[in-house]
Amino acid sequence: MRSFLEEAPPREDIAALIQEARWAPSGGNRQPWAVVAISPGRTRALLDRWQARLWTWVLPSYVGLLAERRPEMSESELWSFAQDRVAQAGSVTGHPWLLLVHQVGGGEQSRHHLENTPTARRSADFEARIERAVQLTEDVGRCSVGLFAHHLHLGAAARGWGSCLQWQWVMLQEELEQEGVLPSGLALRCGVVVGHALAHPKVPEREAVQVSWVD
Ligand SMILES: Cc1cc2nc3c(=O)[nH]c(=O)nc-3n(C[C@H](O)[C@H](O)[C@H](O)COP(=O)(O)O)c2cc1C
Repeated sequence: MRSFLEEAPPREDIAALIQEARWAPSGGNRQPWAVVAISPGRTRALLDRWQARLWTWVLPSYVGLLAERRPEMSESELWSFAQDRVAQAGSVTGHPWLLLVHQVGGGEQSRHHLENTPTARRSADFEARIERAVQLTEDVGRCSVGLFAHHLHLGAAARGWGSCLQWQWVMLQEELEQEGVLPSGLALRCGVVVGHALAHPKVPEREAVQVSWVD
């Protein structure tokens, strides 16, 4: 959903939406998320300034993602497919809010505690497990932030609004810091544009999920 009306929901409704999303599940109930909420006017200005350029940066990784799914396509087919998709659905119109979601805490905190585990409690392969445990903690945190973002979508849908989850904003973090939109050094994970829907696009097709059954 990327087409929004000119009129956006009021700030107090967006504040309520964000607070509802706290009910997202998180690993260890750590709730490792926080939001920078950017007003519709400022969001529109950011989109006007960056949107087209952003896609030229994001396109190579989009082509990479497509290539994974469509090994039969040649390099030039992949690029034109990606460019078509961007032309059709790549730009946000109207005046949504932009909710930039960042991660709070992470794997490195658990490293500290793991490394300080008393020797008596360490298993034989303890050292080897530290890296895996740190990585796992980081992954669980990222997954939890994704669930939080999805709860923003659920809340938006419940209100009859439209929303789109966009990782592309992470590419723009440095510029957003320079413009004073973001403080420096946040673990930015994604943006959610949310507002009154002008038009809902056709839902893209889905492939059947591969399932392995084990008896
Ligand atoms: C992790 C993630 C990252 C995404 N990043 C972007 C993005 O940067 N820009 C964008 O326009 N859409 C983005 N999307 C939206 C997807 O393009 C969209 O969910 C997908 O095409 C399926 O469409 P649907 O959600 O309408 O069914 C993202 C979705 C997910 C789950």
